[in-house]
Amino acid sequence: MSEHETSSETLGEPTRRDFLYLATGMAGVVGAGAVAWPFIDQMRPDASTLALASIEVDVSSLQPGMSLTAKWRGKPVFIRNRTDKEVEEAKAVALADLKDPVARNANLPADAEATDVDRSAGKDKENWIVMIGSCTHLGCVPLGQAGDFGGWFCPCHGSHYDTAGRIRKGPAPMNLAVPTFAFTSDTVIKIG
Ligand code: FES
Repeated sequence: MSEHETSSETLGEPTRRDFLYLATGMAGVVGAGAVAWPFIDQMRPDASTLALASIEVDVSSLQPGMSLTAKWRGKPVFIRNRTDKEVEEAKAVALADLKDPVARNANLPADAEATDVDRSAGKDKENWIVMIGSCTHLGCVPLGQAGDFGGWFCPCHGSHYDTAGRIRKGPAPMNLAVPTFAFTSDTVIKIG
C-alpha cells in the first residue's frame, strides 16, 4: 500500500473496499424487501371486504372531452367529463328511439327513465357520466368515443352505445350500468 492510500484511510475518505461493502449492503436491503412482500400481501383484505369497499377518484385533471377508467370491485368504471356537444346529442334522442328506456342508474329508482340527465351525475353536473365499463351483452370492455353514436363501442360483437352510455345498436340488451356514486367535492367522486 502506498503512503498516499494509507493517509486517505486515516482521514476517513471512502476506499474501494468501503464502496464494495456499501454496495453489498444495498443488495441486502433489496433482498429483504423481496422477502417481506409475501407477508404484506397476506395482510390485504380478503375478497368479501373488498366487495364492500368504495373508492374515491380525483377527477380534477379531466377537462371536457377527457375520460379516465378507475377500477372498482374488480371492474373498470368509466368516468367521463362530456363535452357540451356530447350532452346535447344525448339530450336530443327521444326515449322512444332507445332500445333500453330504463336509466339503469343505481342512484335512482329502478324504473327511472333513460333520459340524459338521469344517466348522468344530475342536473348541475350533467356533463359527468360514471358507468361500469362492462358491455351488457357478455361483459367485454367497450372502447370509448367510438361506434356509430360517438359514445362507446364494444368490438366483441358490435354493440354501439351513445354518449350517455345507452345501447343503441347491436346485441347488448341494456344500457351500461351506472354504479352508486356521488361527488364528495367539486373534484372527487366516491364510487360505491
Ligand atoms: S360482449 Fe359486447 S357486444 Fe358482445
